[in-house]
Amino acid sequence: MSTVQEKIELMKAKQEKIKLGGGEARIAKQHEKGKLTARERIELFFDEGTFVELDQFVTHRCTNFGMEKKSLPGEGVVTGYGTVNGRLVYAFAQDFTVEGGSLGEMHAAKICKVLDLSLKMGAPVIGINDSGGARIQEAVDALGGYGKIFLKNTLASGVVPQISVIMGPCAGGAVYSPALTDFIYMVKNTSQMFITGPAVIKSVTAEEVTAEQLGGAMTHNSTSGVAHFAAENEEDCIEQIRYLLSFLPSNNLEDAPIVETNDDPSRMDESLNTLLPDNPNMPYDMKDVITSLVDNGEFYEVHEHYAKNIITCFARFGGKSVGIIANQPAVMAGCLDVNASDKSARFIRFCDAFNIPIVNLVDVPGFLPGTDQEYGGIIRHGAKMLYAYSEATVPKITVITRKAYGGSYLAMCSQDLGADQVFAWPTAEIAVMGPAGAANIIFRKDPDVAAKTAEYIEEFATPYKAAERGFVDMVIEPMETRPRIITALNMLASKREARPAKKHGNIPL
Ligand code: HXC
Repeated sequence: MSTVQEKIELMKAKQEKIKLGGGEARIAKQHEKGKLTARERIELFFDEGTFVELDQFVTHRCTNFGMEKKSLPGEGVVTGYGTVNGRLVYAFAQDFTVEGGSLGEMHAAKICKVLDLSLKMGAPVIGINDSGGARIQEAVDALGGYGKIFLKNTLASGVVPQISVIMGPCAGGAVYSPALTDFIYMVKNTSQMFITGPAVIKSVTAEEVTAEQLGGAMTHNSTSGVAHFAAENEEDCIEQIRYLLSFLPSNNLEDAPIVETNDDPSRMDESLNTLLPDNPNMPYDMKDVITSLVDNGEFYEVHEHYAKNIITCFARFGGKSVGIIANQPAVMAGCLDVNASDKSARFIRFCDAFNIPIVNLVDVPGFLPGTDQEYGGIIRHGAKMLYAYSEATVPKITVITRKAYGGSYLAMCSQDLGADQVFAWPTAEIAVMGPAGAANIIFRKDPDVAAKTAEYIEEFATPYKAAERGFVDMVIEPMETRPRIITALNMLASKREARPAKKHGNIPL
C-alpha cells in the first residue's frame, strides 16, 4: 500500500505530465512558429499568480481508431479563471500540441463549464483558439460538443462580454464559436480562420490560395470583417485584450469601471474651431476630432481596418467609457455603405447591451449610390443601423459637425431615432439631400438655377432649420464640444427607457 507521501508525489507527477501537454518536441515546434503554448498564453493574460485551473484531469472516452490507447493531456484545452487588473475573468486556451487542439466531447465539456461559470458569476470569458476543429476520431460526439458551445455562446451573448482570440490555424467548427462572440482578435502571420482550408478548396474548385491569403489576420480584419483586431504578435495581442477589458463592464447589469483622469472635463480646444476646411467638399480627419474630445486623446478602435469610412471606438469622457461612432470624411467622403452599416450596427448593439453610452460624430453625405451597393442589399444592411439606434436605450448623444443629409442623417442617430441630446456645429448642413442634388430636382426648370441653388445653400445647408424645429438642442462652438458632451453624459447618467415587452425583435440581417 502506498504512503500518503507517495500519493502526493503521484498527484504531482500526474500534474507535471499534464502540464507538459503534447511534450517537449511539440512545444518546441509551437515556439518555432512564433506561437506560445496554451499555458504560456494563460499566464501572460492573467494578473500574475492569479490563474486557477479547472478540470486538469479530464480525459476523453473515445475508443475509435485506436484512441483508447491515446492519452490527451488536459484534453487539449486549459480552462479556468483569474483576474485581469483585479477583476474576475474566465478563460480557456486550446492546446495545439495535443492532437492539434482538436475538439472532442470532453474538451467541449471543459469549455462549456467555463461558459456556465462566467454566466453565473457575471464575468467576461476569453477563448483562445488554436485548433484543427472537430476531433475527427470522435465523429458526432465532437460535433455535439461544438453544438453545445454554440448554444452557450448564444445564451451568454449580451450578458457577459465574450472575446475570442485566434492564435493558430482554426478550421471548421473552431471558427464558429468565435463568430458568435463579441470580438475576435487575430495575430498577424500566425493565425488563420476558415471553414474549409486551401487543400479542400483546391480539390473542389481548383482555386489556389495560401492559408494566409484565405484566412489570415489582415484578410479577416480588412476584407471580410470577421475579425475586429489585428495584433503584431501574441504578446501584443494579449496586452490589447487586457486593454479592451478596461473599457467594459463585467456583465450587462454593471457599468464599466471608472478610470480617474487628469483631463479637465471643462477643457476646450480652440483648434476645433479651425479644423474644418471652409470648402465643405474638402475632407478632414475625424480622428483628429475624436483625439481632441476624449480623455487624454486616448481611444481604442474596433474594426480599425474594415469599412474605414466609419470609425467605431471605445474612449472615455470624464473617466467613463463610451462607444463612439463617427463618419470619416477622409474615406469615401464618409458615405455609409453595406460594410459601414454592419460595422456600426453591431458596435451599437454591443454598447447598448453593456450599458456603454453612445456618442455619434456626424459628417455624412448619404448612402453610397450604385448597383454594387443596391445589389449588395444596402437597404437591408442600412436598416440595421436604423434598427440598432432605435432599439438602444443607453444614453445617445449626437454631434453634427458638417453634413447630415437625408436617410444618413437619420441613420446616424437623429433625435427621432432617440438621440437624447443633439448638438450641431455652425458648419452643420442638415438637409434632405446635398444642395446640388436638391437644386437639380426642384429648380431644374428655373432659368435662374444658379441663384436658386445659392439661396438653397444659404437657407437649408445650415443647422438652423433643424434647430428651429427642435431637432437640434443647441448649436455650439466646436471648441466647447468636450464639456458639452460631458455635461450631457452626466445629465443622462440616470436614464431609464422602457421598450415594449417581447420575446426579441427581428433586426434585419
Ligand atoms: C484530429 C487533428 C485534427 C482534427 C489536426 N489534428 N486537426 N486530429 N482531428 N480535426 C492533429 C493532426 O493529425 C496532427 O497529429 C496534429 O493534430 C497536428 O496537426 P498537423 O496537421 O501536423 O499541423 P499543421 O500542419 O500545423 O496543420 C494544422 C491544420 C491541419 C491546418 C489545422 O491539421 C488541418 O487541416 N486539420 C484538419 C482541419 C479540418 O478540416 N477540420 C475540420 C474538422 S470538421 P499528429 O499526431 O500527426 O501530430 C469540423 C466541423 C465542425 O470542425 C462544424 C461545426 C459547425
